[in-house]
Amino acid sequence: MATEFMLNGKPARADADAQTPLLWVLREDLELTGTKFGCGKGLCGACTVHLDGTPVRSCSLPLSLAAGRSITTIEGLAVDGLHPLQRAWIDANAPQCGYCQSGQIMSAAALLATNPAPTDADIDAAMSGNICRCGTYPRIRIAIKRAAELMKPAAVAAEVQP
Ligand code: FES
Ligand code: FES
Repeated sequence: MATEFMLNGKPARADADAQTPLLWVLREDLELTGTKFGCGKGLCGACTVHLDGTPVRSCSLPLSLAAGRSITTIEGLAVDGLHPLQRAWIDANAPQCGYCQSGQIMSAAALLATNPAPTDADIDAAMSGNICRCGTYPRIRIAIKRAAELMKPAAVAAEVQP
């Protein structure tokens, strides 16, 4: 029986076995390859997506737990164009090889959704489950702070001025 859920704001369904990790469904069945496979054991964060707004490790989440829920992947993070985090990531030149970065951004997005002005300690705590073999942590921290600035109401209002 197909599992139905919302994916990046649109209805989606998958015919895979209910115990299939969501990551495989996203990448193999639904062809959303922005979410990456790293460890497969819930340890590295490369596969992070949002489940009803909460960051989860899709490599360790069975498809059955997505039923009726809302999934957001890196492809759906910005409704139109680039999310402020993605713009800030570019500004800060955060990625090196890039492999971990979609997971990093999804964790950062969940942080900023609940904490619009995170401290270094807040950032380190929220991002501690996302491993980067290239060691881009200092630039990621800069990018998150930059995105927080971009997401302030005054900055958003200034952008929509004609
Ligand atoms: S691939 Fe899921 S946490 Fe590493
Ligand atoms: S940018 Fe290479 S693993 Fe993070």
